[in-house]
Amino acid sequence: MRFRVIGLLIILAAVGCIGINACQNKQKPESVVTRKKVAADNGNINALPLDYSSPPDNPSNKEKIELGRLLFYDPILSGGKDVSCATCHHPEFGYAESLELSIGVNGKGLGEKRVFNHGNDIPFTKRNAQSLLNTAFNGIDRNSTYSPALAPMFWDLRAKSLEEQAMLPVKTLEEMRGHGFEEQIITKEIVARIQRIKAYQKLFDQAFGESNAVTEKNISRALAAFQRSLIANQSRFDKYMRGDKSAMSTREIEGMQLFVSTGCASCHSGPMFSDFKTHVLGVADNDKLAFVDSGFQQSFAFRTPSLRNLRFTRPYMHNGKIPTLESVLTFYEDLRGKDLPNKHIQRSQVDTLALQLKLEFKNISTIIEFLNALNDDKYDKTIPASVPSGLTVGGKIQ
Ligand code: HEC
Ligand code: HEC
Repeated sequence: MRFRVIGLLIILAAVGCIGINACQNKQKPESVVTRKKVAADNGNINALPLDYSSPPDNPSNKEKIELGRLLFYDPILSGGKDVSCATCHHPEFGYAESLELSIGVNGKGLGEKRVFNHGNDIPFTKRNAQSLLNTAFNGIDRNSTYSPALAPMFWDLRAKSLEEQAMLPVKTLEEMRGHGFEEQIITKEIVARIQRIKAYQKLFDQAFGESNAVTEKNISRALAAFQRSLIANQSRFDKYMRGDKSAMSTREIEGMQLFVSTGCASCHSGPMFSDFKTHVLGVADNDKLAFVDSGFQQSFAFRTPSLRNLRFTRPYMHNGKIPTLESVLTFYEDLRGKDLPNKHIQRSQVDTLALQLKLEFKNISTIIEFLNALNDDKYDKTIPASVPSGLTVGGKIQ
């Protein structure tokens, strides 16, 4: 772990940015350097590591993971005590969501059946919910180097690490907060609620090895430790790359070669099939939103999503606008010739790596065969029978 962090620091120093902010400011020049390198050897996709590491200030242990699981399913974390993290990241859907945009506060039901209650004034979430599987590895590069304390989160990279991310849904009006509480006080309210529950007090003290351990930081740490444990690294592709040449069919192997030769791996690279950078593709806006979503630093760029477990992350793209893999591939095929689906973007803004794709219609189904070899449905699906607050497990999802 220490070695990996040092390795990362050396790489960061080498591209001339010391400290994360410096890196962000220099995103443009840095990505130009990387792209040149990528174009030279775009075959760089590989298996996930067998194990994951945790940030130095949040080492993992079994008690912490199980506490995180309880918090994840406990609607006590939401203003109205009716939404939990699992409402939008349910194991039945690979810890992702089957709606284009999610319904948090003032909703009922699960997956495609989830709807707003009558008399609703709460908006949909701004974007399609990502799968939490393998978020332990967010930020991993082609050399399998990653730093869990700096792991990029969200479609626009606006949070770093699962720990930093954890309380953001709690504070967001449409996800978990609701109208009942102001953003400034909601986390205090949640901490106070949890402190009042004896069973939680005990579990926190055990997980963190200290007394009075129910704090905002430790709630985030437990949630992060649980999510980090949600690994799915046994896809047919992983087995093939680790040496079992019978794990993938001939057509899947052909699809893998086409994926690389077409240029998909220029951006969908490394063990997560993501460079964890942002790119402009020009996906259309979702008309359920009352505003234009301009993505990373108002550039209309969005983070390259992982291509693992696509079975669960449907519908696709940052706003769930593309329903199937066939239509994603058709979207790429159309990029060169047809009018861009997003009217706020000029063709000159679209990433050249996307415009240069050598995608042929006849190869689409073979590439999709390969993408299906990236699914792994043997992940942890354990749902607790009850949560310490005594509220309904998962929130109003029945
Ligand atoms: C109302 C639905 C909803 C709820 C409830 C919700 N999320 Fe999410 N989650 C989303 C959406 C939508 C995104 C994508 C947002 C974006 O990228 O801008 C997301 C993204 C994430 C990500 C980023 C994953 C990645 O690869 O970047 C993590 C981690 C996450 N959520 C964890 C949680 C946790 C922990 C909770 C509970 C404290 C939670 N979520 C509650 C909808 C939800
Ligand atoms: C220029 C970089 C780039 C290239 C090249 C590229 N992609 Fe993507 N891909 C992205 C980005 C960025 C998104 C998300 C765009 C958005 O949501 O607005 C994406 C989204 C996707 C998704 C949707 C995943 C999800 O969960 O929503 C799939 C599937 C996909 N790409 C497959 C491919 C395939 C197959 C190829 C090759 C034909 C390819 N991509 C080439 C950057 C790229």
